[in-house]
Amino acid sequence: MKITLGLLPFTLSAVAVSVNAQDTKSSEFSIQANVQLPFPKWLTDFTGLTSWPGVDPPYIPLDFIDFEKIPKHIPAHESGHCATLANNFDTCSFDCHNCVSSDDVYTCPQLSQTFDDGPSVATPKLLDSLKSKATFFILGINAVRLPDVYRSTVDRGHVVGSHTWSHKFLPSLKNEEIIAQIEWSIWAMNATHGHLPKWFRPPYGGIDNRVRAILRQFGMQAVLWDFDTFDWKLMNGGTAKDEQTIYDNVRKFKNANQGHGLILEHDVFGRTVDVALKVNDIVGPSQLTVPQCVGGLDYIKRFDIEN
Ligand SMILES: *[C@@H]1O[C@H](CO)[C@@H](O)[C@H](O)[C@H]1NC(C)=O
Ligand SMILES: [Zn+2]
Repeated sequence: MKITLGLLPFTLSAVAVSVNAQDTKSSEFSIQANVQLPFPKWLTDFTGLTSWPGVDPPYIPLDFIDFEKIPKHIPAHESGHCATLANNFDTCSFDCHNCVSSDDVYTCPQLSQTFDDGPSVATPKLLDSLKSKATFFILGINAVRLPDVYRSTVDRGHVVGSHTWSHKFLPSLKNEEIIAQIEWSIWAMNATHGHLPKWFRPPYGGIDNRVRAILRQFGMQAVLWDFDTFDWKLMNGGTAKDEQTIYDNVRKFKNANQGHGLILEHDVFGRTVDVALKVNDIVGPSQLTVPQCVGGLDYIKRFDIEN
């Protein structure tokens, strides 16, 4: 079988993979009950597996990934553990130093909303009332649980990008684990809607030049933000920002930044979706998707879904 990812054609069957059923059993068990999306035959042919993985997806080797292109001198770090990490352009950590690379997107000529962590049961309400096109960065593990919500997001003209398979902090992972997080999210999106994502948002903004070197080999680009609503803190008891503070901050940012910018939000809970709709009114309907912000492609490639 011939498979094409951007300009990099690769043959799925060229890589022999053996994954011990024993290794994946416990993690598979945890998500099986909720999975709605059938595991496609093309993915069985390639991986030897028959069901979607759990939160620790197995690394499946890909022949277009060249490990020599991944820097070896950038150490792994846990979220918030920045002391040992060099603050330089060689490392360029967004989570530690707010560093962005020339191919990262982090703003937009027209202030626009983006939504992470879906699809969720709260997403349909957002889709029903949103007055503009937005970009949704989804988790593969959620797409296989709620494929209909994923499809209706795309069918309403929004653009969907990857937010990894299961929301790990990538700079703390081994190269193979980072690849697994990206490849399984791509396969989930391809199996749900027959397309390969171009845009990628790292969970927790966790990205450095080691993660970028892997991402680029998939033909993908990182999308960060220049305005964080901290909407998820609404769910966090004591330290929560209240809704009014979020609206005031959005208004201030809109004025101070002359209507430019990229807003980070989450379509995970009813409460963050309600905030998103109010923010939608404040920002206004003339928003852009990430590819519109930079004049890029919506997806690397589209397929006619075969069953
Ligand atoms: C995408 O899905 C198609 C089937 O619809 C399959 O032939 C192709 O190999 C898949 N590619 C990737 C990269 O998942
Ligand atoms: Zn997230």
